[in-house]
Amino acid sequence: MLRILVLIAVVGIALSLPKEKVFQKRSYDPSMVAFWPLNAEQGTIDQIDSNDGLPTGVTVDNTKHGDICSAYSFSGNSGSYIEFPNNGRFDTRFSTTLLVYVYPTGVAGPLFHYKRNNWGSHLWQTGPNEGFVRLTGRNDFSSTAELKANVLVQNDWNFFGVTYDYYSGEEKLYLNGAVVKSGNIGSVEIETQYEARMGAVTFDSRYYKGLVTCMQVYNRALSPDEIIEAEKLCTKCPAVVSGDPHLTTFDGRAYSFQGTCWHTLVKDCSNTNPEFEIRAHFAPRDDIDGLKTRTVAVNVTVGKESIIVDKNNKVSGNNNDFKPWKRQIDVSSNNNTVMISFTVKDTTFTLHWNGRKHIFTADVSGTAYRGKVGGLLGNADGDSHNDFMMSDGKVSKDVNEFGDTWKVADMRCE
Ligand SMILES: *[C@@H]1O[C@H](CO)[C@@H](O)[C@H](O)[C@H]1NC(C)=O
Ligand SMILES: *[C@@H]1O[C@H](CO)[C@@H](O)[C@H](O)[C@H]1NC(C)=O
Repeated sequence: MLRILVLIAVVGIALSLPKEKVFQKRSYDPSMVAFWPLNAEQGTIDQIDSNDGLPTGVTVDNTKHGDICSAYSFSGNSGSYIEFPNNGRFDTRFSTTLLVYVYPTGVAGPLFHYKRNNWGSHLWQTGPNEGFVRLTGRNDFSSTAELKANVLVQNDWNFFGVTYDYYSGEEKLYLNGAVVKSGNIGSVEIETQYEARMGAVTFDSRYYKGLVTCMQVYNRALSPDEIIEAEKLCTKCPAVVSGDPHLTTFDGRAYSFQGTCWHTLVKDCSNTNPEFEIRAHFAPRDDIDGLKTRTVAVNVTVGKESIIVDKNNKVSGNNNDFKPWKRQIDVSSNNNTVMISFTVKDTTFTLHWNGRKHIFTADVSGTAYRGKVGGLLGNADGDSHNDFMMSDGKVSKDVNEFGDTWKVADMRCE
């Protein structure tokens, strides 16, 4: 009885974390002046300043399309748009970079348009496959030369954008990290001081139809390499452990593995003293014949703090020994899901555990640990081919050889 009470007390404390979480904002390139992830997790919240987008007549689409698991859906009419108020932070005035992931299903419409009721600097889709940009002069209503290219692919993701360098006058249209059109428009102070609209403006009857995610604004012209890096800021689908166990790594490699007892899912490999580790307990299923295992608990350890969540979503561990403001692991619970998150350096892990359904998902954002983690969820370097990296750092072709190296040696299970 005492044990049960103690356990309940632990659960109570672990779940009664302060309601107002202190979000450790990630650090981004200092020239990034606005970033709206436009996904299920972060919505239209500006990650840089307070210019949160105001959505009207748009929905969050949670269907997996390629690598992207959620985006905003625009219906292609005057009432379907997002407006981004501009407190001056994304008034770049001189050089700029605008980048956005678009999945067009319609003919034309605004992607990022400064000034809701007239022509300000604007990035558009102007034909089924045509991407377009025109920057306008700040004070004299002048327009610079347009740049356009027939490069957008319908019903697919396009990482589209423009860079403009005030000093050289070079303007470049980009698709998926490659320049598709360029020109020199001279040195123009550009009209970027107004609110921006995506999807619809008030004075033109072309409305964007399709999906959009990951809108970014910078106050300088990024290089092609930097644009490829910027693309990685966009939501990838989370790593998943489910079923008997079926796993999908951070880099998207899917496989099945029947391990038993505790295994490392993710571990800091940048250090002989790992900063963090996430383990899963696999146990044989008793409801079916043959060896099939599934996840029955997870253990998240950061520094000296540990959280164990079992198949009834009961949370135990030692993190109630830490003062709330010193805790690194944030735990909250919503219906059937326990959400756990922690941030180390610039990297945030967001974990969801549904004990009854034996489903665990892991999202990672940040660059400090790219390629520097190991475990059953792979090394998170963006390349799925080397995901069967064993605990000695070598890459295996055999799923069992790979998986067995991540079995926790000093743990015993009944
Ligand atoms: C949780 O994992 C950590 C290492 O990451 C380990 O030290 C600790 O003993 C584990 N806790 C349990 C209850 O298995
Ligand atoms: C909570 O869980 C129940 C039972 O699984 C489900 O029917 C309901 O939709 C869930 N509610 C929310 C808000 O997720």
